[in-house]
Amino acid sequence: MNGELKPAASRGRDAVVVAPRPLTPVWPVVLLLALFYLGAVYFDRHGGWFNAQVYAPYQNTGELALYQPRSGQAMLLAEGRNVYQNVCGVCHGNDGLGRPNQTPPLAGSDWVAKDAGVLAHIPLAGLSGPVEVKGVQWNLSMPPMGAALSDARLAAVLTYIRSSWGNRSSAISAAEVSQARARIGGNAPVPAGWAKMTTIERGRYVFVQYNCAQCHGSDGQGGVANPNAKTAEQVPSLIHVADGYTKAELKAFIMKGERDVPRLNPNGPAPPRFMPAWGGIIRDSDLNDLVDYLFSLKPKEQDLGF
Ligand code: HEC
Ligand code: HEC
Repeated sequence: MNGELKPAASRGRDAVVVAPRPLTPVWPVVLLLALFYLGAVYFDRHGGWFNAQVYAPYQNTGELALYQPRSGQAMLLAEGRNVYQNVCGVCHGNDGLGRPNQTPPLAGSDWVAKDAGVLAHIPLAGLSGPVEVKGVQWNLSMPPMGAALSDARLAAVLTYIRSSWGNRSSAISAAEVSQARARIGGNAPVPAGWAKMTTIERGRYVFVQYNCAQCHGSDGQGGVANPNAKTAEQVPSLIHVADGYTKAELKAFIMKGERDVPRLNPNGPAPPRFMPAWGGIIRDSDLNDLVDYLFSLKPKEQDLGF
């Protein structure tokens, strides 16, 4: 219905010429529909479909059930899955399959089935250098991504990966994780004299503890290869970050990480090394020290004083 007159030929002889009707504006209708749609979506997400037990932010009874207190094994696995997806899944995939060229799989991996002490050592201390997983050689490095997790939470993650995706190995206890942690000298970044150290000295300690050097080189000097990364196919050096970031920005970047490192050749493979998200892994006070340390790396003679 466009209000135009039909061509004369198609009108009957006695047809009455009707004056074109003014166009009904369409936008209020579209707006109403859009509002209705948004309302429906809101209701769908927050209303719990009239179930009096479901409140925002939970969307349905199924989701609610996920958060109900559980007993024993089920609770442990729910906790383990939650931590896994927040801490390990970014690299190893929520499906445990890893990522070609970037992270080995945990599904079906012999490492996951090893002794509690051997397995717990990997997230506590990190793992670098050649490893064989399901017949494939990897030569990358994993930072100590589990170092900041409590014994109980790390035990839950390890138990989760040992009983998921077809893996069938025994549970790991918090006591076993605690023993493994003790063997590597503990993970608390509190060496003798911590309180008397400057924030820069502490930050350097955090840098070493989380093995930032495995990608950024010792003292952030760079030089670590990262094929097909736009940054000269290397992981960037960190000695000039003070020029590009404020302290708050730098902290935010470190917490967020950078999963998709820009590629030199856009059609080439993803660079194998990417910046992990450290939020929730490194304690907040340690992050502040870390940023102070990174700012201190800028060579003094290059500071021209304006
Ligand atoms: C930043 C990415 C990253 C995160 C996060 C990460 N890993 Fe890894 N992981 C790796 C890489 C890369 C390797 C291979 C290291 C090498 O080549 O020496 C690896 C190896 C492993 C291995 C031994 C090899 C295998 O595939 O079985 C285990 C076990 C493992 N990780 C468990 C974990 C657990 C548990 C977590 C979470 C607490 C975790 N990883 C978090 C990157 C990551
Ligand atoms: C597994 C390798 C890896 C580890 C471990 C790692 N990084 Fe990175 N980081 C990268 C890569 C790759 C980039 C470049 C990201 C890009 O190009 O977008 C990066 C970027 C950065 C940047 C931004 C540099 C710039 O010039 O903008 C900072 C700051 C940084 N990392 C700090 C750290 C700190 C601090 C740690 C230790 C807590 C750390 N990184 C651990 C791989 C890593």
